[in-house]
Amino acid sequence: MTSKLSRKDLLADALYIDGKWQQGKNTFTVTNPSTGDTVATVANASEQQVEAAIDAAHRAFQSWRHCTSEERSKKLRAWFDAIMLHQDELAEIMTLEQGKPVDEAAGEVAYGASFVEWFAEEAKRIRGDILPTIKNQQENRVIKQPIGVVGCITPWNFPNAMITRKVAPALAAGCTVVVKPPSLTPLSALALGVLAEHVGIPAGVINIVPTDDAKMFSETLCANPKVRKLSFTGSTKVGQTLMKLCSENVIKMSLELGGNAPFVVFDDADLDLAVEQLMASKFRNAGQTCISANRVLVQDSVHDAFVGKLSHAVKKLKVGDGMNKDHDLGPLINQEAVDKAHRLVKDAIEKGATCELKGGQDEHLGDLFYLPVLLTNVSAEMEISQTEIFAPVVAVQKFVSEDEGIELANSTPFGLAAYFCASSPQRIHRVSYALEAGLVGINAGAISHYMNPFGGVKQSGIGREGSHYGIDEYLEIKTLVQGGL
Ligand code: SIN
Repeated sequence: MTSKLSRKDLLADALYIDGKWQQGKNTFTVTNPSTGDTVATVANASEQQVEAAIDAAHRAFQSWRHCTSEERSKKLRAWFDAIMLHQDELAEIMTLEQGKPVDEAAGEVAYGASFVEWFAEEAKRIRGDILPTIKNQQENRVIKQPIGVVGCITPWNFPNAMITRKVAPALAAGCTVVVKPPSLTPLSALALGVLAEHVGIPAGVINIVPTDDAKMFSETLCANPKVRKLSFTGSTKVGQTLMKLCSENVIKMSLELGGNAPFVVFDDADLDLAVEQLMASKFRNAGQTCISANRVLVQDSVHDAFVGKLSHAVKKLKVGDGMNKDHDLGPLINQEAVDKAHRLVKDAIEKGATCELKGGQDEHLGDLFYLPVLLTNVSAEMEISQTEIFAPVVAVQKFVSEDEGIELANSTPFGLAAYFCASSPQRIHRVSYALEAGLVGINAGAISHYMNPFGGVKQSGIGREGSHYGIDEYLEIKTLVQGGL
């Protein structure tokens, strides 16, 4: 059991390279989106420091890869214990920099830690194969080896869990990492670094280099032949740029990109359950998740009853500073996010959508708070149906037949999550197979779990995180053909 640190001890503001904390070329500011106050001034890594982090990770890889899987497992397990011991402090840091309600932040810390615990166990289950003999006196074997230095670029909406979902399997596999947390929310990442150091994860195995120059970081990382893998969570547009950069050195990639999740309510659905599950999906992190229900598609015969129940549930949500435990939704991350929500709602209304609940900005709350909006009569042509909303705006469309519902659901270049509510077993089977998405929630809106593979199809990404598949992203398969036996 590790000793407990205070929140102040966890609030690191320096770069973590080769087991040492160091200043950057200058600093950038982290702001509390609820209050506009400065939470911290954080070291801003230079290109040379990113190179130094890659070198450190490469040196550490030479020994970390040769630790036994049990040794790696024990270190990860100690990190998990330390994270859970500091769950409340980490949650407060997250709420201060990201805004989500502190209980929800504590839930994210536990969700993040669950990947560390899971991959501590999976480290011991990396197995190869012995293949059937093709020739006499010869044996063919398959072994799995760590890929090498991994670059991790993570988003601001899950400041803790998106780091552990990449770093834990990487370390379990025997890889070392260079992490660039988002400049909006680097403090949760640095706090994880403090705890990793505290539990004795060796120097250079985890390097954390905050920078406000994402372009410099990506170009430096992808141009360095010591880097063998890049794991990115973020927008499809940035993912496409990274794919081009990774092509130069043929770097293996995992990409968790944008979504445009349909939430389809069929006429045989339990409407109360459907509302409950939609609320769980739509309002998590104030709608700022890649798997948030983006297009709510409701069959015409249950449309009005569903909208009535939904409107009732949405009206109950309380919006305000996430440090106050009474609040269900915190602020949006920045002004750009508020402006985008405002623009999408305005465009939809101008094109014929009906505003059932007005919501939007409220002069009594801070600039970045956005009260939930409920729109009906939305159509597929509106921008709100084609874009990730990333705000507490529910956009409801009507459809007539099952085929039309499925067609509308799939009419997007994205395919991360999809949800539907129905009761007929035949329909559930048909629709589950027909939806083009990496994750499908069936009468379920909360679908993320360390045991479930997370990832998308189409323009939503490549690869899977979490689950027993997740570690493969960090392993190479090697074939050994031994003769003369
Ligand atoms: C994301 O929105 O990027 C991740 C959501 C999750 O893990 O549930």
